[in-house]
Amino acid sequence: MNNRSKIFIDHFHFYYGKVQALKDLSLSISARQIFAVLGPARSGKTTLLKSMNRLADLIHGTSHTGKIYIDGREIHGEEMPLPELRRRVGMVFDLPTALPLSIFENIAYGPRLKGISERNRLGEMVEVSLKAAVLWDEVKDRLHSSALKLSGGQQQRLCIARMLALEPEIIMLDEPCSGLDPISTASIEKSLMSLKETYTILLVPHNIQQASRVADRVGFFLGGELIEEGPSEEIFTRPRMKKTEDYISGRFG
Ligand SMILES: Nc1ncnc2c1ncn2[C@@H]1O[C@H](COP(=O)(O)OP(=O)(O)O)[C@@H](O)[C@H]1O
Ligand SMILES: [Mg+2]
Repeated sequence: MNNRSKIFIDHFHFYYGKVQALKDLSLSISARQIFAVLGPARSGKTTLLKSMNRLADLIHGTSHTGKIYIDGREIHGEEMPLPELRRRVGMVFDLPTALPLSIFENIAYGPRLKGISERNRLGEMVEVSLKAAVLWDEVKDRLHSSALKLSGGQQQRLCIARMLALEPEIIMLDEPCSGLDPISTASIEKSLMSLKETYTILLVPHNIQQASRVADRVGFFLGGELIEEGPSEEIFTRPRMKKTEDYISGRFG
């Protein structure tokens, strides 16, 4: 574990009032891989993701101790201004919905807010983002029709494209395939495999099978504790901890 990782979490504790949601978490995550945050409900997965971009700090009554570093810079410190953190760490929650705008405008919206207005430049960003989210081929002929006409799976990929247009470095996806059919799920997984060539990805998988299909490394969380962490094939074939084995073999959760 070292400070040169893309993400380095050092003895991090997180509390909602008196409820402790993350307990003494230490973890490093390397660039350009998919790290699956695995565990049953209420194990602290969403709290971890929301801690990474300091969204959790917005909730009244929360507190934390310990440190989180991105590229060696502490995210709660002065060296990482919040707007920069939010730009570098993109997030898509479960069941994201498109804005009631055209497909094009859904993606151009973020870059426009950043002051980019040149049509060609926006068009290029829309195309690159849609290609990265593996949606381009399905929508390239109807960019100016309403995004709300897209299927659930397409809207989910549109939301991923919208986040990519903000040019983050780390992307966090909290159960991006919940409520999706197998074909849409496969499309999202395909896009994740190509995205990891560029981005560092934290994924709360939809289920254990999805984690085993796409993750490079897996952390198993239970009750706010990281029980164990390692390469995906190790966690799924020979976990060190009984609790992990029980979970992946379907004994609980
Ligand atoms: N906004 C909140 N206020 C109070 N407690 C919360 C809040 N969000 C989550 N928690 C608590 O924190 C713990 C971890 O929740 P969460 O991070 O959402 O877990 P997961 O994503 O693994 O289901 C749970 O005990 C949950 O009840
Ligand atoms: Mg959650």
